[in-house]
Order: sequence, then structure tokens, then C-alpha cells
Amino acid sequence: MKDTEMFKPFEKKIWLSSPTMHGEELKYITEAYETNWMSTVGENIDEVERMIAKKIGVEYAVALSAGTASIHLAVKLAGVKPGDKVFCSDMTFDATVNPVVYEGGVPVFIDTEYDTWNMDPVALEKAFELYPDVKVVVIAHLYGTPGKIDEIKAICDKHGALLIEDATESLGASYKGIQTGSFGKIGCLSCNGNKIITGSSGGFLLTNDSWAADKVRKWSTQAKENAPWYQHAEIGYNYRMSNLIAGVIRGQIPYLDEHIAQKKAIYERYKKGLEDLPVHMNPYDVENSMPNFWLSCLIVNSDAMCKQVREECDVSYVSEAGKSCPTEILETLLKYNVEGRPIWKPMHMQPIYRNNEFVTRQGNARGTSITSLETEANEECGLQLDVGRDIFHRGLCLPSDNKMTQEQQDKIIGIVRGCFI
Ligand SMILES: Cc1ncc(COP(=O)(O)O)c(C=O)c1O
Repeated sequence: MKDTEMFKPFEKKIWLSSPTMHGEELKYITEAYETNWMSTVGENIDEVERMIAKKIGVEYAVALSAGTASIHLAVKLAGVKPGDKVFCSDMTFDATVNPVVYEGGVPVFIDTEYDTWNMDPVALEKAFELYPDVKVVVIAHLYGTPGKIDEIKAICDKHGALLIEDATESLGASYKGIQTGSFGKIGCLSCNGNKIITGSSGGFLLTNDSWAADKVRKWSTQAKENAPWYQHAEIGYNYRMSNLIAGVIRGQIPYLDEHIAQKKAIYERYKKGLEDLPVHMNPYDVENSMPNFWLSCLIVNSDAMCKQVREECDVSYVSEAGKSCPTEILETLLKYNVEGRPIWKPMHMQPIYRNNEFVTRQGNARGTSITSLETEANEECGLQLDVGRDIFHRGLCLPSDNKMTQEQQDKIIGIVRGCFI
């Protein structure tokens, strides 16, 4: 018999991931105010560009208004033109792929692998067999876990494709000691309100190419030409970071490693506290990668899933002794004033992208993919294993706020455990 009312609800909400301020942010904002550098120029911007470039190990970090702006200008730099197909991560937030469409490109979604929950290199190779002319690949490192970046990069090099790295969730994460965001020709970061460090908003475009950095600075400030008047020879954008936002980020950067250590401790505590349940934590390549542990997630073993049905925007489940599902766990957490979240719904399942191509290890899978190939008959019918759909069905994001105390986390672990009784 489940006992999902074993504790009292938390008085103050426990968030999925909320900003953690330290006080130095105010100093830099105040300096900007008192010296009247209240626009998109100023010392804070110069400093954060220098600090981020150094941290990531690239020549240039251009400060922009958002991660989405940086992905948009990355896609533009890559030369994507109307009608061009672009291979994109499938299980990600839609801001990874929308900028492709801003430029008239057509995202082709590449399925996910189970080892890191990122783009599957085998499916990517398959996609190049189907569409050898594709010249741009956009990958995300989901929840701060580096993907199989060596393999992805080698495939891109083999096919002469340019790699854009959406490292918006993975600031500070590394693979073989190298920071995510520095593997691709262009990298993108975000400092929005729920990221590991935040400016309330903001993003960076990362590159080693001085021409590209200058171009992005120009495009992001309305593409003004060097003339006595407003002269425009190409389309520009209002995408530059404000000196105030940069002040907040400047105050946060020294705390990045501390935040990562706190998030790692949260991940480890969940792992230990849930180890005897039929669930697994979001996995990573323990030998080669160091995630930033931005969000701790779990996936319920297939045989421990109670029935759960998701419609377009609605969901229902049937509670069952000894089993559970993401919906039951999320609803139970909410009863206790705790915020969790479903896994990001894969792009090929989204109404706006449902008609785009979707490539799995087996080939083009649009309209033929399912969560498990339990029977041979499924395979014989031409159905394909859809890893992203499966992780979305069985997985969820656990509260990962770095201000959550150990005591609060122990209670949350108890609540999750109660769902499996
Ligand atoms: C994977 C991914 N890509 C892109 C973005 C966009 O970043 P921003 O909110 O700074 O525009 C986000 C965050 O929202 C994200 O999680």
C-alpha cells in the first residue's frame, strides 16, 4: 500500500533549479549604475567576455542577450540557407533547434543514446548515409552531461560538416578535461534564470575565429557599418548583453565551481538514496566526462513502470503497488510543494516538428517509432526503437536546487521511495 502522505509538505517551495546569489553581483551592478554604464557597453561586459573565454579555453566569448541569440547567430555564421537540412539533437529544449528555422533551415532530428542521453553517433552516421550533403550539425549536452563528443566530432569531420555545440545547460562540464562549448567550431552558453550560474538572462557565443567574433559583435548591435550615420549593409539584431546583466554574471562566475560541487553532491545523494529502487540516475561516461550535474534525473526500469498514458497535453496513470511512473512521482512531489519536471519532450514528438525527418540507428523513423521493441513482430513490421521517446516516457527531472539542504533532500528521497511501495 502506498503511503504518499507520510510527511508534512514543505512550507517553502523546493525548486527544480533557482538562482543562487552571493552578494558580489550587487557590487558590479552598483558600479555600473554609479558610473552610468547602463547600456550594452561597459567594464562588466569586457570582464565577463574575458573570464568566460578563459574558463572555456577559447579565444573569444561574445556576450549576448540570451543563449537562444547565440544559437541563432551560430546558425547564421554556419551559413544555413532556406531549405538546408541541419542535423539536430532530438531530446533537448526547443531553443536548440528553433534558430535553425529562423534562418529557413530544416531540422532533421537524430535519436538519442542511453549512455549519456545525448545525440547517438550511430544514428548520426546513419543520417549522413541518408543525407550526405548536410553541412551543419547542432548538438546539445543535456542536463549538463557531455555527449559522445569525440565520436560526433569525428563523424562531422569525416563528412565535412560544421559542428555547433549547444552548451547552454553544461557550462563548466568537461570531456577528457576539455570544456564543453569548445569542441565545436562554434559554442553557445546560457545564463538564464535556472542555469548553473545566472545573470537573470544572457548568453555567450564561443569561437576561436576573430572574424566570426567581430561579425557576431556587429550583428548583435544592429549591424551598423563604420559611417558617420546609421549605415546598414546587412540585417542586424538587438542581441548584445546589457552591462547590468554582465554585472550579475561577473559576480557569479567565481562561484561556478562551488555550484558544480553542490550539484554533484545532490546527484550522489539521490544515487545512494534510491539505489535499491528499480530506477537509474541520468548516466554519464564516468571515465571520460565530468558533468556539471545541472539537473539530477531518474529513469524508472521498464518492468517497474505502472501504466501511464500521455496525450498531447494531458496525462493519466494507474497507481500500482510496487511500481510507479514519472507522473505519479511528479504529482506526489507537487503535493509536498516540491518542483520536479518531465524529461524534455523530444523534438520529433512536438506538434511544430512532427513532420520533420527523424533518424534512429535503424534509419528514417518518421511515424514508425516506438518505446521498446519487445517483440520480434514489432521489428518485422518495420517499427523502430525510439530512445528519446522511451526516456521521455520513463524519466523525470528531480529537484536539483543547490540551496536544498541535505535534510530536505532526504525527505524528497523518502517521498520518491513512497511512490514505489
Ligand atoms: C538546451 C537549451 N538550449 C538553449 C536554451 C536557450 O537559452 P536561453 O534561455 O538563454 O535563451 C536553453 C535554455 O533555456 C536550453 O536548455
